[in-house]
Amino acid sequence: MSGGGLTSKKEMGSVIEAIKWVNGRLEILDQTRLPFQFTNLVCQTPEEVREAIRKLRVRGAPLIGIVGAYGVVLGIQNSESSNYIEFKNELDTVINLLKDSRPTAQNLFWALNRMQRCCERNRNKEISVLKELLKKEAVKIHQDDKKRCLRIGENGAQLIREGDTILTHCNAGALATGGIGTALGVIYTANREGKGIKVFVDETRPLLQGARLTAWELKHAGIPVTLICDNMVGWVMKKGLIDCCIVGADRIASNGDTANKIGTYNISVLACHHKIPFYIAAPISTFDLNLKDGSEIPIEERGEEEVINWHGKRIAPKDIDVYTPAFDVTPGEYITAIITEHGIIYPPYKENLKVIANKIGENSQINIDK
Ligand code: MRU
Repeated sequence: MSGGGLTSKKEMGSVIEAIKWVNGRLEILDQTRLPFQFTNLVCQTPEEVREAIRKLRVRGAPLIGIVGAYGVVLGIQNSESSNYIEFKNELDTVINLLKDSRPTAQNLFWALNRMQRCCERNRNKEISVLKELLKKEAVKIHQDDKKRCLRIGENGAQLIREGDTILTHCNAGALATGGIGTALGVIYTANREGKGIKVFVDETRPLLQGARLTAWELKHAGIPVTLICDNMVGWVMKKGLIDCCIVGADRIASNGDTANKIGTYNISVLACHHKIPFYIAAPISTFDLNLKDGSEIPIEERGEEEVINWHGKRIAPKDIDVYTPAFDVTPGEYITAIITEHGIIYPPYKENLKVIANKIGENSQINIDK
């Protein structure tokens, strides 16, 4: 991995690009250094892509999927296999390596699945053609995400009223997708429509995606943003400062239970108590309708150093136990609606998620056994 040429000049109001695919090279804006340093990395191998995902240099469920797809291209573009079986074995090895980066975001597995299906569909083509088709598929996954974000934004903005103050958690913006974001996509769209909104964002311990990334994105877009600590959410709701909550998602089970950044569940419980609408914004690629409920969603646990250290210094005593889940599951019953590119889905989710899956059909490659 080496320094690359992704622009570091961030004009106020311009769209932030978290990754770029240029001439067979994947350039990544290193999000661990934001908001003060714009360091670009070039990934040349699937191993480097896996490492960048694991270290959260690139993050956010839809973006992990896109980067995973490019990782497949990097892994097979120099393949010397002369027949399909050999080539497919190589592809499967690369895909398995990339699957072993982060476990919770369904979008990664969805994108890798698409790459696998693209290969299988074109098994009769020459290897050189197959390589080109796989590259096109990865670019399509990336380009389509831009459109999905725009549609999520338009659909979700209908739920936002003039002058609303919205609470969001973690980062579900341009830095987490191939477009304007999911939760932030709704916020950007409502802002563009002149609704005069304001946003509260919590820090999102332990890795501070809210403070470092979302606060920066919103400021960059010229949207009024107020930063709070995670433990202030209950109080700001009690004081009547929040009109609705919008967050992204990493995986949505068939009953609407939703995995998202740790701390989302707390917010949903508080929102329910204070009778504040709580919305999830996510593309269909986040749905895993083979899962009965949220108890089946794999939850990533990360290294204890992310919790026991602050500004690179240890803050907790030695020899204590540390528990480090990176995601939690919000029960469907606390979710007012799920905003997707195909429309807004309301409870009962068990029935209504199935309806939308059937409506959009096979092409979505949504994880559901028909
Ligand atoms: O650990 P992260 O930063 O990858 O977690 C990201 C989130 O939880 C986002 O809310 C989610 O992936 C949706 S991004 C559109």
